[in-house]
Amino acid sequence: MIQLQNLNKVYRTSTIETTALNDINLSIDKGEFLSIMGPSGCGKSTLLNIMGLLDEPSSGKLVINGQQISDYNSKAMAKYRNQHLGFIFQSFHLIPDLSVVDNVELPLIYRKMSAAQRKTLAKSALESVGLSNRVDHYPNQLSGGQKQRVAIARAIVGEPSIILADEPTGNLDSVMGNEVMEILLRLNKEKQTTIVMVTHDENMANMTHRLVRLYDGSQVQ
Ligand SMILES: Nc1ncnc2c1ncn2[C@@H]1O[C@H](COP(=O)(O)OP(=O)(O)O)[C@@H](O)[C@H]1O
Ligand SMILES: [Mg+2]
Repeated sequence: MIQLQNLNKVYRTSTIETTALNDINLSIDKGEFLSIMGPSGCGKSTLLNIMGLLDEPSSGKLVINGQQISDYNSKAMAKYRNQHLGFIFQSFHLIPDLSVVDNVELPLIYRKMSAAQRKTLAKSALESVGLSNRVDHYPNQLSGGQKQRVAIARAIVGEPSIILADEPTGNLDSVMGNEVMEILLRLNKEKQTTIVMVTHDENMANMTHRLVRLYDGSQVQ
């Protein structure tokens, strides 16, 4: 489903050149739950951002469902991102001025859908993460674990085939982290959603189908 072929990423500034990814070859199957581990700065977020079309490789290929993504123009990329990808970040990235349900609705705004339909789908996504009783709250009225569950609801509301999660439990204590992990495991099992998750937690990585380790931009396992 997702293939990375001879993928390289070099960041250049006027004074320094950083090789963030060095010849990555990776093939991720539909329905797979893959975790990525490695020390800080080894290229994990860069890899996830390239898979999520938020950043471009310097060389190499990204193929999703048989289509080479570099052939897409920016409009096609935005459409693809909106319809097929869900993102979850360590720091939640919720919009503070919007209520919980309005945050979750956001990815649907770009689809042809009535406001009532959006609301119904957002509420149903919130129900699936156990937050039916928080729809009208605002992000600052929630615990970290609840915020991340809102972010998951927002990531899944459009029924993406792929979820990209960058240290989704990194800011959570172990109880809340486990709750978030359970939701991701259930989503993978029940909806066959492909998940790629960056984590620092060996236990969580061991609950997934496969673990890839990066070191200095190279794949070491
Ligand atoms: N926008 C950028 N410009 C320059 N260097 C960057 C940029 N983003 C990341 N890097 C560098 O690329 C390397 C990999 O970063 P990153 O993918 O964020 O690592 P990780 O997520 O594993 O901590 C680091 O050395 C980082 O400093
Ligand atoms: Mg990172």
